[in-house]
Amino acid sequence: MLQKLSAEELPRVEKEIRDFITTCTTHEQLKESMLYSIEAGGKRIRPLIVLATVKAFQKELTAPVYQTAGALEMIHTYSLIHDDLPAMDDDDLRRGKPTNHKVFGEALAILAGDGLLTGAFQLISETTLSTAENVLLIQLLAKASGTAGMVAGQAGDMAAEKRHVPLDELKAIHRGKTGALLTYAFVAGGILANQTEYVIELLEKLGGHIGLAFQIRDDLLDVVSTTEELGKQVGQDEKSAKSTYPALLGLEGAKQALTDELNQAEIVVQQLTSVAEFHPQIFQELLELFALKK
Ligand code: IPE
Ligand code: IPE
Ligand code: MG
Ligand code: MG
Ligand code: MG
Repeated sequence: MLQKLSAEELPRVEKEIRDFITTCTTHEQLKESMLYSIEAGGKRIRPLIVLATVKAFQKELTAPVYQTAGALEMIHTYSLIHDDLPAMDDDDLRRGKPTNHKVFGEALAILAGDGLLTGAFQLISETTLSTAENVLLIQLLAKASGTAGMVAGQAGDMAAEKRHVPLDELKAIHRGKTGALLTYAFVAGGILANQTEYVIELLEKLGGHIGLAFQIRDDLLDVVSTTEELGKQVGQDEKSAKSTYPALLGLEGAKQALTDELNQAEIVVQQLTSVAEFHPQIFQELLELFALKK
């Protein structure tokens, strides 16, 4: 089910992004650098969650769903371009290709990130949704991406290098830098599927667990996976003395923390089954994506 959704519907999201960048960017090299990172691929997990959530509530996938999912992926891609810059994680490989700044230089990489960020808000503001729904989706996207969400988490991440931080602080960093955008994917899906406040709260809770699980898994993969498999250089966290789950809790402790978060997520999915139109199967399949297959 999820496989089918991914194969059939993600190309629509990618088309929204590509068309937007192509028609709305007046500087040729800027356009090229933005498209380079978007077209390098990536798992597209955030847009997939948006689509899967709408589908789980048995609603149609309409243009505003693809546009919202596209805007989210644009913001995520910008966050990766900036995350890889020498001033941040200083990485050379992303999505199996040289990082944006390695190809286009730092100035254009910074600007490609700026373009994807601002462009995402332009794209999402151009949907045919009602003004109230549109403003809500825009506001929540700004919160998730910004100074109480991803950007704050990234600031926390940088400040936690070469320093021992307690688990609570590490959790807050992970929730910000990674959890906020993943939570938005679930919540936006719920809003687009016209769900009640109760359901949106459950989706927010689910996103919290999945978001934390995703970064714990990312930290683990940096230790146990390979550069070929991930399309990004492994062992980077230890090299820059990042605060991570494996660094703080050890490999087994981090794996246990991942399992705990996924179990909590499973409980929320169970709670959602009381909602009449909710189809759990697609969410069950989604949860499997976040487990460590080792
Ligand atoms: C990587 O995200 C950065 C994190 C938030 C851990 P993804 O693992 O989703 O990266 P892509 O989109 O597949 O490249
Ligand atoms: C990045 O976390 C989170 C972002 C907001 C981009 P990481 O720095 O661990 O992501 P990777 O490992 O470079 O993909
Ligand atoms: Mg980072
Ligand atoms: Mg990084
Ligand atoms: Mg990482």
